[in-house]
Amino acid sequence: MLAEMLVWVGTQASKPARQLGYARAAVSLWSRRRRWTREWAEHEANTRDFALKTADACRHLDTVWLLGGGTLSDLPLAELSGLFKRVLVFDIAWLPQARALARRWPNVELRLADVSGVVLPLSEWRLGMPLPIPTAEAMKELDPVPPDCVLSLNLLSQLPLLPMEYVQRQGMTMQSAETFGRAILQAHLQGLQDFTCPVGLTADARRIWRSRAGEIVLSESAVLGVKLPAPEKTWHWPVAPRGEIDNETGLEITVEASRLNA
Ligand SMILES: C[S@@+](CC[C@H](N)C(=O)[O-])C[C@H]1O[C@@H](n2cnc3c(N)ncnc32)[C@H](O)[C@@H]1O
Repeated sequence: MLAEMLVWVGTQASKPARQLGYARAAVSLWSRRRRWTREWAEHEANTRDFALKTADACRHLDTVWLLGGGTLSDLPLAELSGLFKRVLVFDIAWLPQARALARRWPNVELRLADVSGVVLPLSEWRLGMPLPIPTAEAMKELDPVPPDCVLSLNLLSQLPLLPMEYVQRQGMTMQSAETFGRAILQAHLQGLQDFTCPVGLTADARRIWRSRAGEIVLSESAVLGVKLPAPEKTWHWPVAPRGEIDNETGLEITVEASRLNA
């Protein structure tokens, strides 16, 4: 608990991002990963492999963008830093551990940014006001130099979660919050599609809850039913084994990896 508090204090996030809960979420991701390092290893290796496969297809090797850096555990930073001149990693909250790790590579730059573009306007939003409109253009503004490769890694399903929680706390119905959530997801997918360089996407597709006996208790879309691009590869990520959220059921995620503009 004390360790988590210290990490939270050292986590970098803007005031609106803190208000919506992103610093807290970053610490909880770090903490959960520490508890389940072994169980998450295969998922992280699959993500790194897929990112490299996408990068290998790039004709120009000036700048690569990584979206959703988190703990940096699922990013092949050493390899990408050797391949590209500039590696820009974006996240809305940066843990002190990630900032320390990234210093190993002089051409790796961690950028604090909201990839969805809705967090700042949302932090000023109250029920009855028009909601910010998520747009595909938000991503283009992350850096003035167009990238040669874009990797969106295990970020997509996370984009609508805290915005949806926030609007519901302000009194919005779950149904309207979900419509807003879908718009955020669709804007990110459209934004990726609009790049002309190779784009790699790894995304949570389904959440599967399994009983002690291994039976499926519930299987639901991790992206509010939004259609994902056809996957090239699929794997299972035991994100919260039994005991993490519930003693009787464990949560596993079906991850889909796809390449756009390849
Ligand atoms: C599941 S983690 C990705 C896994 C991460 N690559 C790792 O190895 O830890 C999702 C990441 O997306 C980030 N994120 C969520 N919403 C975001 C937003 N609007 N803009 C930028 N990053 C966001 C979170 O802060 C978190 O670090």
